[in-house]
Amino acid sequence: MASPGSSGRCSSRSRVPEFRAGPSGGRGVPAVGLGTASARFMGEDDFRVVLLAALEVGYRHIDTASVYGSERVVGEGVADAVRRGVLKSREEVFVTTKVWCTQCHPDLVELNPVWQQKKLLEFCKEKGIHVTAYHPLGGKYKTSTVNPVMNSDVLKEIAEAKGKSVAQISLRWIYEQGASMLTTSTKRERLKENIEIFDWQLSDDDRLKISQIPQHKKVSVLSILCPDGVSSVELSEVDVVEA
Ligand SMILES: NC(=O)c1ccc[n+]([C@@H]2O[C@H](COP(=O)([O-])OP(=O)(O)OC[C@H]3O[C@@H](n4cnc5c(N)ncnc54)[C@H](OP(=O)(O)O)[C@@H]3O)[C@@H](O)[C@H]2O)c1
Repeated sequence: MASPGSSGRCSSRSRVPEFRAGPSGGRGVPAVGLGTASARFMGEDDFRVVLLAALEVGYRHIDTASVYGSERVVGEGVADAVRRGVLKSREEVFVTTKVWCTQCHPDLVELNPVWQQKKLLEFCKEKGIHVTAYHPLGGKYKTSTVNPVMNSDVLKEIAEAKGKSVAQISLRWIYEQGASMLTTSTKRERLKENIEIFDWQLSDDDRLKISQIPQHKKVSVLSILCPDGVSSVELSEVDVVEA
């Protein structure tokens, strides 16, 4: 797993650094990507606006899936961004997809300061597997439920002392773990805020406080099962044993 900024490369108009994952000379993974799971709940036109805003502020990593219904609109949105001159070419964008119920995604895991996955990160680092985080801000919660990331007193205290937002502290912590992440927002200013995490860092004291946050997982094993059996296995659900 690459360490923060180890590749140092950013695409022409993006300030988002990339992790060098896989064989040398392979494609870099931009540290922050736009998730598109909410595309299916938004009108297509509204989603196009969000996608264009993300590309304009500097996102070059887009996560799609057939189950999100976002693949076609992302393809069209990227082509539109090239026509508008926001992108020089389609090649600038790192696009991922996945096929529900048929694939295992051991490198895409729930990861944030309230679900730190220390054992999994160590395992992946040892095996050279690049990790991408989902729910970096704890994910979307019903209004009646408290999001433990965004409402963490520890993160709030660090954010206030640093003049950053709670979201930025969470995203920066993930970046410092050597993982890239997929976040999403319908708001341009938040999309921008979420990539303004690369020119400052957490202190040792901040990291220590975050390491002591009580752990809480959002996605349970039941939610990754499909009617026909196990559809996708997270390494966090599997005990790593010495051979
Ligand atoms: N198993 C899987 O493979 C899997 C599972 C889940 C997700 N994913 C991927 O990961 C992507 C990310 O989804 P997620 O829900 O996990 O993302 P997240 O970043 O943890 O949460 C997104 C939520 O946070 C809010 N938000 C974003 N920026 C904010 C900020 N600066 N301040 C306050 N609130 C902020 C957004 O609301 P607003 O829109 O109101 O800003 C949105 O409701 C998905 O779209 C999908 O591509 C993959």
